[in-house]
Amino acid sequence: MCGIVGYIGQETALDYLLNSLRVLEYRGYDSSGIAVYSPKAGIQILKAKGKLSNLIDLTEKQKIAGQVGIGHTRWATQGAPSDINAHPHSNAQSEIVIVHNGIINNYLALKEELINQYKIKFTSETDSEIFAHLIGVFTEQGLGLKEALQATIQKIKGTYALAVLSKKEPNKILLTCHEAPLVIGLGKNQDLFCASDSSALMQYTDQIIRLKDAQIAELGENGKWVIYDEKGIVINPEIQTLTLDPLLMDKGGYKHFLLKEIHEQPAILRKLLGVHLSDDLQIQFPKLDPKVLKGINRILILGCGTAYYAGMIGKIVLESLAQIPTELEFASELLARPSVLADEKTLVIAISQSGETADTLLAVKTALKKGARLLAITNRPESSLANLASGACILTQAGIEVSVAATKSFTAQILCLYFLAISLSETNKGLPEKQIEWIKQEMRYLPQIMEQTLSRAENYKKKILPYATKKAFIFLGRGLNYPIALEGALKLKEITYIQSAGYAAGEMKHGPIATIDEGVPTFSIITPGPLYHKTLHNAIEAKTRGAPSLGIVVDEDKEASQELDALFYIPTLPFSAEYEHLQDLFTPFISVIPLQLSAYYLAEYLGKDVDQPRNLAKSVTVE
Ligand code: G6P
Repeated sequence: MCGIVGYIGQETALDYLLNSLRVLEYRGYDSSGIAVYSPKAGIQILKAKGKLSNLIDLTEKQKIAGQVGIGHTRWATQGAPSDINAHPHSNAQSEIVIVHNGIINNYLALKEELINQYKIKFTSETDSEIFAHLIGVFTEQGLGLKEALQATIQKIKGTYALAVLSKKEPNKILLTCHEAPLVIGLGKNQDLFCASDSSALMQYTDQIIRLKDAQIAELGENGKWVIYDEKGIVINPEIQTLTLDPLLMDKGGYKHFLLKEIHEQPAILRKLLGVHLSDDLQIQFPKLDPKVLKGINRILILGCGTAYYAGMIGKIVLESLAQIPTELEFASELLARPSVLADEKTLVIAISQSGETADTLLAVKTALKKGARLLAITNRPESSLANLASGACILTQAGIEVSVAATKSFTAQILCLYFLAISLSETNKGLPEKQIEWIKQEMRYLPQIMEQTLSRAENYKKKILPYATKKAFIFLGRGLNYPIALEGALKLKEITYIQSAGYAAGEMKHGPIATIDEGVPTFSIITPGPLYHKTLHNAIEAKTRGAPSLGIVVDEDKEASQELDALFYIPTLPFSAEYEHLQDLFTPFISVIPLQLSAYYLAEYLGKDVDQPRNLAKSVTVE
């Protein structure tokens, strides 16, 4: 969502701010801005709607000197994307300048108070501007900047990560946050940085401090920093070491991050297998206290977007392998179902690539208050979610995912859920031992089968491009391939903007079939397993009503391949005649690949902004 950056040190702040904002571009935004203080020019603010390059153009026309500054990429929530609504915002005297991520819930009441009591004129349509005016009102009343910030946050109801500059106390940046991430970076040459996403800091330092709710940090000159708790008492925070690899921010020869990330999947799965499946086929969770899993009798999975679809697959494998009743809920919907949370024997599994999705964090906090146990599946060990889980984490080891549309994090999340389901099956006496042995043996071949699938990318491209001008797509699947149909539809709509929907294939007849014609292809996943023929019939039903029919089938397929218009062949999956009921168990890892690639090639062909699709954000830090 929005991104905050800041710099104070010996160097020109502008360079650091722009470099850091460039890193945050991947999160999605619609405008950007910076504010830099210098003794000569005071606080200079530049902001621009649209891409960061528009802001950079402005900085090339105007000299911005100064060694302290803050910057922002905005994803509009309150007030349309525009130059005026872009951050930083300032008070009327341009003495207090702020950048804000989050939402002020009592914005209207505060705005009214500021207008009626203090005759303040607002210049933007944003709620964020409130911060600048309120801090300004308190400093006018004689409070120091820190005290004014403290007084301001007493009045604010909502979520925020906030960075503040002031003309009166110029050589410092003040920071605070509430339910929104903010990280301080300690540089080597008495440089101090801040950012709402630690990826913006990794080019400068690996020493970070994660600011906690209601704390205030003061970043000053000569590398001096101090952090106060909510009572204003100086605290000694934990300094963490950042483990992100800057190389992952490179496209590595691919045209887009998305394509690179799709191709990274086999290597990530191989890494995960190395961490969690020992040579003698023991499932291990090096960083997980076994107590978290002990004695549970119910599971609740929470997530948003792609993470939710990974959770759908998790639900099926946890129920079929571990035989533990498992519920799944959109994190944003959990609040509407408070009774869904059971007792301390319920394990809540929160899945989030970023670990910063506001809905997921809120749902988790609600669950924790009710006594549930938490297990986080996340890609970011330093994230708010990982912190909430205090070590009860399975890391997806996928490296930074830059493209807004999730791909590699999805298959990594699924594999983590499989490890969990196998381990719980073993402790819970779910599936018979022999079957579990077979699963563990076969899953080691997944990276290889994925590689074989990816080597067919050009073929998938040829197959999908003839459908580039279709007005809508329908994706169909059953069982484990139903979530894959949903994920395929999500990928396509996210990056091509083509209307697309995924359905459980059996539901096709109950409504969606009314929408199809020759302009609406169906894309069915018809892979071997107990549901093969049923799915094939659903695909044929759509075809006989005029829809072009595309399908994912395995190499040795005999029936579906004769019925469909375009075939996306995937390699044969592990199969044992003895365990026929497990025949489709590994399908999701492979069937998702032609769908990811099809979405990519269509988006590329249509000239869309593949890595940063319009209106989307990588990590949605507002509810
Ligand atoms: C956003 C992203 C999606 C992602 C979802 C959940 O909508 O655009 O790609 O699946 O958030 O994100 P999380 O970081 O919680 O997995």
